[in-house]
Amino acid sequence: MANLVVKVQTEDLQPGQILAEDIRDPFGRILLYSGATLTEFTIQGLREREYIKTVKVRISPEKIAPGLLRPEESLARIPTQVHQRIGGFFEKARTSAQVKEEAIEHLSEDVQPVIENIFGTEPAIVHNLRLLSNHDDHTHQHSWMVMLLSLSILREAELKGFLKPDKHDKTDMALGALLHDIGKTQIPLKILNKPGKLSAEEWQKMRLHSTYGYRMIRSLSSLMPVSKAVVGHHHRYLDGSGYSAEGLPFLEYVPDLVRIATVADIYEAIVSERPYHIAALPYHAIKILEQGSKKLYDPRYVSLLREIVAAFPIGSLLLFSGGLVAQVEDVDLKEKDNPLLLIVGSFNRKYAPHLGLRYNLESPPSGLPGEPELLLGAYSPAGLASKIRAGFQLQKTPYDLLGSDASIGLYSLPDWESSFCENFGFLLQIF
Ligand SMILES: [Fe+2]
Repeated sequence: MANLVVKVQTEDLQPGQILAEDIRDPFGRILLYSGATLTEFTIQGLREREYIKTVKVRISPEKIAPGLLRPEESLARIPTQVHQRIGGFFEKARTSAQVKEEAIEHLSEDVQPVIENIFGTEPAIVHNLRLLSNHDDHTHQHSWMVMLLSLSILREAELKGFLKPDKHDKTDMALGALLHDIGKTQIPLKILNKPGKLSAEEWQKMRLHSTYGYRMIRSLSSLMPVSKAVVGHHHRYLDGSGYSAEGLPFLEYVPDLVRIATVADIYEAIVSERPYHIAALPYHAIKILEQGSKKLYDPRYVSLLREIVAAFPIGSLLLFSGGLVAQVEDVDLKEKDNPLLLIVGSFNRKYAPHLGLRYNLESPPSGLPGEPELLLGAYSPAGLASKIRAGFQLQKTPYDLLGSDASIGLYSLPDWESSFCENFGFLLQIF
């Protein structure tokens, strides 16, 4: 694939260009991942950040060929002000600890263009979708994503004939998803953004966000009971485990819109980068949801989500057992679980002769690993290195992760050499 990597001033960025580097804020937090397709919306977000002057992009004309409607493109038609207004709503909730009736009326109007975009376009695959918020506020960002995912699942459920949502159901879904974590605006930021594990006491406080959130919205007459149920019960699972807002009666039957929001919420939490958690690939997030489905989550909505998301975002890195590292170079939307891989490196000499080889995940050439051998995935070499370290902490031996051959080393394509040394050098000390 003839991709051209070029450095472009933010003023000159064009929708459809693909990021060739992670974009971080001044604190090092990832705003947009390498591999994301730029939209009017994300470009505007980049231009607003004065500390970002130039961005490396891969230009790939076939990505914007007509007929390949991507949600980034369809969602790009959502007026930017909608996302900003919703950000303002979260800011207000944080300072005033109240949600006013008229704020819900405004939100109901604000989500209409989002609903129209999701329900009014061709079904599309959610790629490496990250939208920049003006405030880098995680609750706003997470809630926005959970809304987009919940509406996308609802749309798929309508197409498959599971549900027949009317205009009100769609608005109730959007508002419930947007507000599900509104109680987090009342949790101290030092707990919300704490790197590492929460103590038992902090965890207790964190769980209170359901209760705080429910208290903030329970008396609003413009918010429907099902949206309130999303706020109060989104951490209640199908087998009765989990928790609800204090004071709410036990839910015998979890409504469909709550089930959808729960699936979207867990998924979004797993794939997003947080101070205490390295972002997982959609592939691994779906696997985790599938393991919990039937018992915890509704399997119908997990499988609809699986159809909506691209399991392997372009640009992500995969580690296979035996120590082979490949980058996802392209994804054909018609075969989205079968990405084109480029072998960029290996921790084992046996794969060194194959560096630079391209193959599709579902049809590996003989001797090379395929999906059953896939161990870990990440959006960057640093992310992959963190995941390998975490794997060791889980008492996986280096041999489980990298193969039992004695020929361990760092082998990579010339372009990847410095990044491999920097990020994976620690492996050499282990052996
Ligand atoms: Fe929550």
